Amino acid sequence: MKGKEWYQADEVAQEYDAKRFSKGGRLIDRREKQAALDALGPVEGKDVLEIACGTGRFTVMLAERGANIVGLDISAAMLSQGREKARAAGVDDRIEFMRGDAARLPFPDDHFDAVFAMRFFHLADTPVKFLTEMARVSNEQVFFDTFNDRSTRVLYNWLLPMGSRLYSRDDVTRLLSDSNLTLDDEAHDFVFPYGFYRKIPNDIADEFRGLDRAILDSGLGEKLASVSYWDARV
Ligand SMILES: C[S@@+](CC[C@H](N)C(=O)[O-])C[C@H]1O[C@@H](n2cnc3c(N)ncnc32)[C@H](O)[C@@H]1O
Repeated sequence: MKGKEWYQADEVAQEYDAKRFSKGGRLIDRREKQAALDALGPVEGKDVLEIACGTGRFTVMLAERGANIVGLDISAAMLSQGREKARAAGVDDRIEFMRGDAARLPFPDDHFDAVFAMRFFHLADTPVKFLTEMARVSNEQVFFDTFNDRSTRVLYNWLLPMGSRLYSRDDVTRLLSDSNLTLDDEAHDFVFPYGFYRKIPNDIADEFRGLDRAILDSGLGEKLASVSYWDARV
């Protein structure tokens, strides 16, 4: 897995948020966080595990809402950014950041109420192994996103240095079934892909987002969306 190595570099970790979530990328950050909140619901007092937590975008947000949260990632450099973010937000004492491989989770079965991973499965060369591990340590919910084949993302996907796997609906259906998970809810978004938004200024991005939403609402949502959010039950 190239993504496993790519994010180990200090400079990649230091630039991670600024590269992706400044300019038009801000609306992506908001939308992804909303997707996680919609799926996880109220998290106060819930035991939550975030796989591939990276710089802690979701970890910190959920700790601020009262979750008992563990953020696991294989990159010490990304975790270090996460720890800094948690300190700045004043929630560092409420998060356990842990270095580890998502293929071998150091937790007993059914340990968490919810286990989720954002922007991880496109890096996975053995997705069933990862999703099975997530399902094993959750007693209820597993939530994750995928980047879709047959979307505008194919235009630049092949150029990405960390590698990026695209999924069809059939791929996800098979993946869920092979991991003994049942799909409970799903959402599909972003006709214009993330890579487009993060290259353009914020105000122009808002205009494109309006057009994006109109296309999605026209009924073509699932067919054209570049990102899907999958909410499953064990
Ligand atoms: C694109 S980043 C996403 C980070 C975060 N989830 C977010 O959305 O901002 C992918 C993350 O997956 C982590 N990763 C890759 N392979 C992993 C593995 N086998 N186990 C745990 N983390 C892994 C990388 O270190 C990186 O932090």
